[in-house]
Amino acid sequence: MAEKNFKRYTVTAALPYANGPLHIGHLAGVYVPSDIYVRYLRAVGKDVAFIGGSDEHGVAITLKARKEGKTPQQIIDHYHEMIKNSFESFGISFDIYSRTSSPQHHQTAADYFKKLYEKGAFEAHVSEQFYDNKEHQFLADRYIKGTCPTCSFDGAYGDQCENCGSTLSPTELINPKSMLSGEVPIMKETKHWYFPLDRYEDFLKQYILEDHKEWKTNVSGQCKSWIDGGLKPRPMTRDLDWGIKVPVKGAEGKVLYVWFDAPIGYISATQEWAQATGKNWEDYWKKEDTKLVHFIGKDNIVFHCIIFPSILKAEGSYILPDNVPANEFLNLEGNKISTSRNWAVWLHEYLIEFPEQQDVLRYVLTANAPETKDNDFTWKDFQIRNNSELVAIYGNFINRAVVLTHKFFGGKVPDITSYEQVDLDALANLEIFPQRIAHSLDQFKFREALGYLMDLARLGNKYLAETEPWKLIKTTPERVGTIMNVSLQIAASLGVLSRPFLPFTYEKLNQMINMDHLNWTDAGKPSNLQGGTSIGEGRLLFEKVEDDVIEKQIQKLMNTKKDNSIEEQLIAPSKPMISYEDFSKMDLRVGQVLTAEPVLKSNKLLKFTVDTGIDKRTIVSGIAKHFTPEEMIGKKVMVLVNLAPRMIMGIESQGMLLFAENKEGSLKAVVPDAAASNGAGIS
Ligand code: 2FM
Ligand code: ZN
Repeated sequence: MAEKNFKRYTVTAALPYANGPLHIGHLAGVYVPSDIYVRYLRAVGKDVAFIGGSDEHGVAITLKARKEGKTPQQIIDHYHEMIKNSFESFGISFDIYSRTSSPQHHQTAADYFKKLYEKGAFEAHVSEQFYDNKEHQFLADRYIKGTCPTCSFDGAYGDQCENCGSTLSPTELINPKSMLSGEVPIMKETKHWYFPLDRYEDFLKQYILEDHKEWKTNVSGQCKSWIDGGLKPRPMTRDLDWGIKVPVKGAEGKVLYVWFDAPIGYISATQEWAQATGKNWEDYWKKEDTKLVHFIGKDNIVFHCIIFPSILKAEGSYILPDNVPANEFLNLEGNKISTSRNWAVWLHEYLIEFPEQQDVLRYVLTANAPETKDNDFTWKDFQIRNNSELVAIYGNFINRAVVLTHKFFGGKVPDITSYEQVDLDALANLEIFPQRIAHSLDQFKFREALGYLMDLARLGNKYLAETEPWKLIKTTPERVGTIMNVSLQIAASLGVLSRPFLPFTYEKLNQMINMDHLNWTDAGKPSNLQGGTSIGEGRLLFEKVEDDVIEKQIQKLMNTKKDNSIEEQLIAPSKPMISYEDFSKMDLRVGQVLTAEPVLKSNKLLKFTVDTGIDKRTIVSGIAKHFTPEEMIGKKVMVLVNLAPRMIMGIESQGMLLFAENKEGSLKAVVPDAAASNGAGIS
């Protein structure tokens, strides 16, 4: 479809789950490109609402809470703040950053569901699902663990095996177990409300494959394969106790599916913003002359391009997403970014380790954005792009233009006497840039746009190298006036056009050459800065990143890798579940070491006499490399007293002492409280 002349823009950025901090993958995939786009739209005078917020429902949050022994509310409160702060620090200029736990959102999402329900847009189905009879709860797929039918890995989840990557359904797991109680779950009937996506196939084919041929190929390709694979009804409710209550009769104890409520979060956040600013939210969601754009990562494509548009269509009064410029993934030093393996560059850490250098990261992540394929972030590339591009090209040009103006003209923009051909050529080239960069941005080609911006900085350097004002100052100072004037005009345009990409740099540059009065369409013009205007002192925009700084970062990652591989070697995946009966067969007691001596001809074994409270017995243990006999004498220990006796180096060992083995292989005694008396049972 031909680009319409839109009157306003609603731009959303995926709502991150409030269950962990942000890393560079988040910035590169979604938040930097959306921020560039929005800042650009504002610069060209468009009416924009830039909407963000935290996604605070779903199993990801409840799992995290369970793992940390906290409530979901504690988890979301903590991470919402942290995420919000990171966004602010990196200049992500949301008009509102809300959260899906807000009362406004609960109301809006529940009303939306109710409206669809009343229109008959859902189908209710009863099906059998896993249920934990002990905890009296239906089990989300992530709450079921078992053996993977593909690779036999013991710890596969009900929706995915993290060992081999297979997508699973919980019924495919061998020996499924509830992660809540460890019990074998039973199958129990439950009723859910399904959204019949199959009924929207024709609509989706027309909407995506015909009306939006301009979408990025990675996006339309994924959509096409979903459609070709056959669309099925998808349940929009869940048996969970964390989320938005399903507002219909017979749905007690159920909540809305997180992927039903989260995109509606964009709408409720817009409502909150409109209320606070005196706007009409419906203009931003229901008027045909509004362009709705969703920035997301590739794992969110089906939800934003297939499910959400169908849900909007079913309601009937909303506009549809006009574009969904999803990015692929950013890897880190050749490996997938992973929160659980701590394989990430965390934004809150970057802010401490690279203070005042947010624009460097924004720059590197845009120059290397995973727009069409997965890309790799490396610290070496970060250093090269900073030192050879930002410092050597951009910073160098600005510095020379400002410093020479101070040196030769007392810090005032000199007047033009007359242009020579070289000046006219530079100004003619300059004129093209606003349009050229805008064209790339309109098409969501952020890397390309940034490449052009750097070409403009190169133009400035080339112009100075060709005209050599430092040589002419003695002979023809009036000629130098023109050269410095042209240089400053280029610098001002570079500043204005940089603003969406490098907002902090813009501010610094603005202190030097005031550009407040200039907007995007002024950029490229030959006389934006008036002769005689004072400019500020020159200050460095970018600083060289030294080798040792980069090596420190690489070392940090290498340490993570080492920790992970030690963990993989030593921390075996959990063993198959056992019943309480199995556990209760073990007779564990508090004991005390009475004597300890080395075992002859062995450098590993120590022989102990242990007071178990029941008796005094001999136990042989392979801990000689970790403890001397002297340090063991008198120690309280944990003893497995009913282990069948074994002959070890000719000595009958009658039980086992318990030790914890650290990541790096060292042993630590598992020591009971000193007050526990010998023979006390452990259960
Ligand atoms: O993948 C995610 O991190 C989701 N929380 C994104 C939600 S986007 C929108 F629908 F809210
Ligand atoms: Zn597997």
